[in-house]
Amino acid sequence: MRTEQSKTIYLKDYQVPDYLIDETHLTFELFEDHSLVHAQLVMRRNPAAGAGLPKLVLDGQQLELLELKLDDRELGEGDYTLTDSHLTLQPTQERFVVDSSVRIHPESNTALEGLYKSGTMFCTQCEAEGFRKITFYLDRPDVMSKFTTTVSAEKHAYPVLLSNGNPIASGSEEGGRHWATWEDPFKKPAYLFALVAGDLWCVEDSFTTMSSREVALRIYVEPENIDKVQHAMDSLKRSMKWDEEVYGREYDLDIFMIVAVNDFNMGAMENKGLNIFNSSCVLAKAETATDAAHQRVEAVVAHEYFHNWSGNRVTCRDWFQLSLKEGFTVFRDSEFSADTHSRTVKRIEDVAYLRTHQFAEDAGPMAHPVRPDAYMEISNFYTLTIYEKGAEVLRMIHTLLGPELFRKGSDLYFERHDGQAVTCDDFVKAMEDASGIDLTQFKRWYTQAGTPRLEVSEAYDEAAQTYSLTFRQSCPATPGQSEKLPFVIPVALGLLDAQGFELPLRLQGESAAQGTSRVLSVTEAEQTFTFVGVVEKPLPSLLRGFSAPVKLHFPYSRDQLMFLMQHDSDGFNRWEAGQQLSVQVLQELIGQHQRGEALVLDQRLVTALRTLLEDESLDQAMVAEMLSLPGEAYLTEISEVADVEAIHAAREFARKALADALFAPLWARYQANREVSKATPYVAEAAHFARRSLQNIALSYLMLSEKPEVLAACVDQFDNADNMTERLAALAVLVNSPFQEEQGKALAMFADFFKDNPLVMDQWFSVQAGCPLPGGLERVHALMQHEAFTLKNPNKVRALIGAFANQNLINFHRADGAGYRFLADQVITLNALNPQIASRLLAPLTRWRKYGSARQALMKAELERILASGELSSDVYEVVSKSLA
Ligand code: PHE
Ligand code: ZN
Repeated sequence: MRTEQSKTIYLKDYQVPDYLIDETHLTFELFEDHSLVHAQLVMRRNPAAGAGLPKLVLDGQQLELLELKLDDRELGEGDYTLTDSHLTLQPTQERFVVDSSVRIHPESNTALEGLYKSGTMFCTQCEAEGFRKITFYLDRPDVMSKFTTTVSAEKHAYPVLLSNGNPIASGSEEGGRHWATWEDPFKKPAYLFALVAGDLWCVEDSFTTMSSREVALRIYVEPENIDKVQHAMDSLKRSMKWDEEVYGREYDLDIFMIVAVNDFNMGAMENKGLNIFNSSCVLAKAETATDAAHQRVEAVVAHEYFHNWSGNRVTCRDWFQLSLKEGFTVFRDSEFSADTHSRTVKRIEDVAYLRTHQFAEDAGPMAHPVRPDAYMEISNFYTLTIYEKGAEVLRMIHTLLGPELFRKGSDLYFERHDGQAVTCDDFVKAMEDASGIDLTQFKRWYTQAGTPRLEVSEAYDEAAQTYSLTFRQSCPATPGQSEKLPFVIPVALGLLDAQGFELPLRLQGESAAQGTSRVLSVTEAEQTFTFVGVVEKPLPSLLRGFSAPVKLHFPYSRDQLMFLMQHDSDGFNRWEAGQQLSVQVLQELIGQHQRGEALVLDQRLVTALRTLLEDESLDQAMVAEMLSLPGEAYLTEISEVADVEAIHAAREFARKALADALFAPLWARYQANREVSKATPYVAEAAHFARRSLQNIALSYLMLSEKPEVLAACVDQFDNADNMTERLAALAVLVNSPFQEEQGKALAMFADFFKDNPLVMDQWFSVQAGCPLPGGLERVHALMQHEAFTLKNPNKVRALIGAFANQNLINFHRADGAGYRFLADQVITLNALNPQIASRLLAPLTRWRKYGSARQALMKAELERILASGELSSDVYEVVSKSLA
């Protein structure tokens, strides 16, 4: 629990390690009631650290030290000091070998960090600082070592023994045990170490690399899941090919393995040659996983694979540099998905996610820069800011340099730093050196937290035929940063004439127009750009493709937004215009609700959506995205003070009004698509995702009509669909409907059919947790008693409690505070079981500043109660104390 770790650690205190570990030889003996770990560390003084022989301070937590040797000399009590986090000893030579033996208890490790048991298998999770729970070590990413690992276990229960690199020897022992030795030829930090032992089956395939090397691919799962691996395998092969084509990166070992485990704190982990995945990010087949799940599997497989270069071959110097690998790798995986499916749809999904969740983080008490400069518990910094905003920063570099120079920069980065542990500055330097572009000011994106606001105003001079856009940027204060300097904001834009055609873009001082869509760099607090030769007053299409993670404000009228929805050549901005129109309409409804007036929907939204629905030439995925109103969480984020009831009432009213007004076209599109779905086998590709997403969003509107023919269609879809995408969508709308009987039947049937599939049961929990009808908290309470639920499995916690607190806002934010009390209770229980999950679950309570004073008081009281609840983990302590500060 909270010992010395609750100290704040600062980037400015970084020092190179005093010692290095050239070789690491590990032996694991796994038993049911304990495990033994022997580590032999071949060490030397770090020449970069200066002269003399300072004390060697090894990290180690929850380790029972059995034996310690320095160069074969057994050390006694007086030769070292041991605290609950460090082992200190005095080397006597420049080069030496430390041998230690420790006893650990994976069988009772519920934190899922270090070596633990998930079901019947042993597995490890070492990022960020889990390796110190396995053995005494220099557990920091700038200490890179060559690892050899021997694992021994009972043969019958653990026939498969895996670690990083290549298998080099194996054998049997007396007493029914066996062992295997693995050797990883690449130096790596301890956080990339992995070990797995279990009764696993695998699907095997192979990939021939660009230099014609044959790589064996293996995905290991528990036997009952062997039929759900093909999609991940196909995704892996596509990722390997894409990284060769787009980044020139080739895989470097003879074998690449993925293991699926059920109990995992995060999505997946990029351990060298042995990726360990949350089973939810590997297993997918039509009958049990939705389209969204298929796409997530593909993206996570790609993400972890891409880490082999962006993370493993070139790693982070320290954890402040986390976004060096995560932001870059998220950018890489999102481009892979964009190239594989629909670029525009992928961008819409990513931006909607960023604006709802990362913007909220940036505006909350845990706001931090993409490269933080202080933390208490690094596990708390695996955030949307590090990942998603970090990816946006990479995307902006890509936009500013263009694809060719960006590729030159990434080539230089990988070549220059291969085998090193480096910083975000090193990355930017490689981009600058390769492109000749100065990114000094741009680097503020790494050091300043908060979401910039970009206000734009226009001026048209008819006589001079000039059109000026004035940009004013500002950035709100964030914890520890009151003043912000101007960012470099790339603004992609175009100008539309009255027919919707794009005008040529020629800035004052330029001799000719440069295309009809271009990127302006806004670098000043206030800056004006003037276009010349503009023959009529244009309508600007700003921030195309969401070219920077900012809050853009331009005083568009609703008619102008409708015009952009139809005519903008940028697909993302067509969607964005629709979102802005919806936001305006919803905010008007929110105001009406707050004033106690009758709600009246602006008919222009109906007209705009009708036009889309009736145009069968449009991409169905785009139509589906446009039909999705901004969510309650996003409406909360953009409110000054979020009025929970008004937001919910306004959005529900709009949905019902749209459903009534658009019943005929929705019904036509639904029926047509459902017919195709019935006649088509499941395919996990863009056109099929598109058809099903339009079908399902249409169904969710149609059910609001409560018409018997719609109910019948919904029940039919639930009963007869051959895939989870259609079945789960039907279940969700039934759960949210007033049709008690059909709903009860469907839920029972579903649970009965899928009771042995934990991932499907997660979906079953989530649809109920998200149901906005009254009584949500009571339903969640009851579901926690269900035999498929357990607080020990992070997926279950997320599916039920997480979904409730994050997606069911009207129930979670009950005026009496019962939702807050419930969440705090769960956090207190989880704090002792799994601190990382406890601390993540807390996030909704930390947003108390968004609400009115009554809710603020209730939320703060729960945070205080957590703080006073006893011995807190550093994870929970950091988040609670910072949210109350
Ligand atoms: N490094 C992992 C990824 O993003 C995430 C992770 C972090 C997993 C910490 C486990 C623990 O790919
Ligand atoms: Zn990652």
